[in-house]
This record gives sequence, structure tokens and C-alpha cells, in this order.
Amino acid sequence: MSAVATRAGGMTLSPIRRMAVGAPAGTVSLALGEPGWPLPDAAREALAAAAAQPGPLPYGPNGGSPELVAEVAALHHCRPEEVMVTAGSQAALFALFQAWAAPGSAVLVPDPGFVSYASLARLCGADPVPYPLAAGGDLDAAALVDALAGAPHTSMVVLNHPANPTGGMASPAALRAVAAACARAGAVLVSDEVYRELWLGRPSAGLHEAARQGAGVVLGSVSKAFGAPGLRVGWAVGPQELLAPARVVHNAMTTAAARPSQDAALALLRARELVLPAAREQVRLRWDTLARVAPRLLEVGGGRPRAGFYLWLPLPAGVAEDTEAFALRVRDESLVTTVPGTAFGERGRGHLRVSLGGAPDELSEGLARLAPWWEA
Ligand SMILES: Cc1ncc(COP(=O)(O)O)c(C=O)c1O
Repeated sequence: MSAVATRAGGMTLSPIRRMAVGAPAGTVSLALGEPGWPLPDAAREALAAAAAQPGPLPYGPNGGSPELVAEVAALHHCRPEEVMVTAGSQAALFALFQAWAAPGSAVLVPDPGFVSYASLARLCGADPVPYPLAAGGDLDAAALVDALAGAPHTSMVVLNHPANPTGGMASPAALRAVAAACARAGAVLVSDEVYRELWLGRPSAGLHEAARQGAGVVLGSVSKAFGAPGLRVGWAVGPQELLAPARVVHNAMTTAAARPSQDAALALLRARELVLPAAREQVRLRWDTLARVAPRLLEVGGGRPRAGFYLWLPLPAGVAEDTEAFALRVRDESLVTTVPGTAFGERGRGHLRVSLGGAPDELSEGLARLAPWWEA
């Protein structure tokens, strides 16, 4: 057998999956970052209708079905030419990185931040350069602009708000400041907004609304607020010239998102006036569950965030082991998995990410198992 190509050689299983491997029987997972509420009926009906269609099931256009593209454009108040439908926002990230993260250049990624950004940069032969966030995980524009100044060959800057794993947000002013700095530096700005619709109090800011449509590429998905991660449908919205090379990569990678999934995504988007408030209610119920079952964890984790379903939990005082060892001990002694904060970057040390997204009874059980570690 020949050797693994260098670019894939350093890749390992995602830390989230790693926590699952070897978990004792009966372990409850609070690790997976996905909604555990039922797929909305609109998607079910569209999938059934797709299955009932006689005749062939063709590929469909590379850039996504025209109806879905039009609906995403309506959601984002942009033109259809500014939309690229992809196989999950993950495929949009992959395509954008391949298109714009130049080998040897820096890609600025949040720390702590979504695990994929650094791997995708490395796959392009680029260097992921972590930038710090403000307390609570909010975007700290000054820190990011500093990081940009310290990395002169930056090809791409990635933002994530509301953030995984911290639940942090970005203010319109911070987004404008970062957009202006990226424009000056000639860096492509990618704003991952896949959790945007899962706000708890008031709507979250978006890059395009805060700055302008030309400021960068915004990512969206049906995986979180639309409750349909298994469909694998997402999108990138931005200037045509930024999307054009990414479209070619996405086409080479996967031809097009699965057609029945696109039909279901279209139905979800068309039903958004029902689907999104219902999803926000599901998220609110889960934070209520946390407040009821494990109020101490809510307090230690800084209270309810302004969006999303992640609790970013500092380790209990006096814990001697490192973050990953502690997460494994909790898993093996209390039969509940979380994600060690180090999975999200060096600045995640000393934290666990607890996902509240799952099914309510599993969530209650998992939280009840977790809470005693903080009740010394
Ligand atoms: C911040 C962030 N971006 C992107 C993704 C990828 O989502 P999908 O490919 O399902 O749209 C995830 C999934 O967990 C995520 O947390």
C-alpha cells in the first residue's frame, strides 16, 4: 500500500467522535452538536413526495435546484446568483477553503472554535492561526484586527457567531470593524452563521446586514434551526466572484447536494414562519431543563447564552487532571459524554462543551449525571 498523502496524514478522528469510541454501555451523550427534536413535517412530506415520484432521479443542477436557490436568496435578501447550495455548510466551508486558502498563507480561526476550520486550513496547506475571543466567547474585533496585523499573509478569516462552542455573539459594530480590516488586508471573510436563527432573546446580527453584501461570504444550513442535519443541505451567500471558484470545487467534490434533500430543504425554508419559532421554543425548553435539573451548571456556565444550545462549562475548582482526562473520567465514572474544550483549540482548556440539543429525557438524565461533579 502506498503512503497516505501528506495533506491527509495529520488528520485524526474528530474529538467528538473520539469521546464516543470506547464509551461504556449505557453512556448518555451530551456531546453531539445537533438538534434532537423531530424533523419538521414539511420536510417529511417533501421526502415522501420525492420518493413517490415515478421515473428517474436525476442529478439536478450543480449549483442547487433553482427553487431552493431562490428561497435561500429570499431568506438572505440577496440575488440568486449570490447563492451556492451545498451538501451541508461543511461542504461550503470545504469548497471556500479550497478556493481561497492559499498554501503557505494564514487562515485566522476562532479559538475556541468549531473543530473543522483548522483541519480545512491544513488540508489546503495553509496555517490555521487562532485568534482569541472576548469573555463569554463574543467576537473581539480589536483582538482579531491585531491577529490580522500579526499575520501579514492572511488569505482568509473565519468568524462564527452565534458561536460553537461558546454561544458567543458578534455585535454589528464588531462585524463592520472586522469586515473593514479584511478588505484592507485583502483577506476573504467567511462568516459562519449556521446557528443564527436559534436566538433566545432577540435576533442575532448577521455580517451582510451589519456590513454589506460584498463584505464576505455568509454560511447557512438546515442542520440546526431547521432541525434537519441528516439532509446535508447548506449554503454560502456572497459576492459572485468569491463563490465562482468554490462552485467548481463543490462540483468536483460532490456534483450537487442530494436532490430529495434539496426538496425537503425547500419545504423547510418555505415553512420557516412555523419551523423557526418552533425550533427556538425547543431550545428554550432545553435551557429550562438545565435550570430545573442542574441549576448549578447553568450558574457556573455563565447563565443562558443569547443563542444556540451549547453550555460552555468551566471545569470544577480543584480538578487535578487536564481537560481531556477529566472529560474521560466523567464519561467512564458517570456514563455521560461531553466534549473537552481543548478539542476547540488551546484556549478551550479548562472547559467542557455540553450540548443541550438532544432528546429531552436523555438530556435530563445526562445533566443529572454530570451535575454532582460541580456540587462539591
Ligand atoms: C459552527 C458550525 N459550522 C458548520 C457546521 C457544519 O454544519 P452542516 O454541514 O451540517 O451544515 C457545524 C456543525 O456542527 C458547526 O457547528
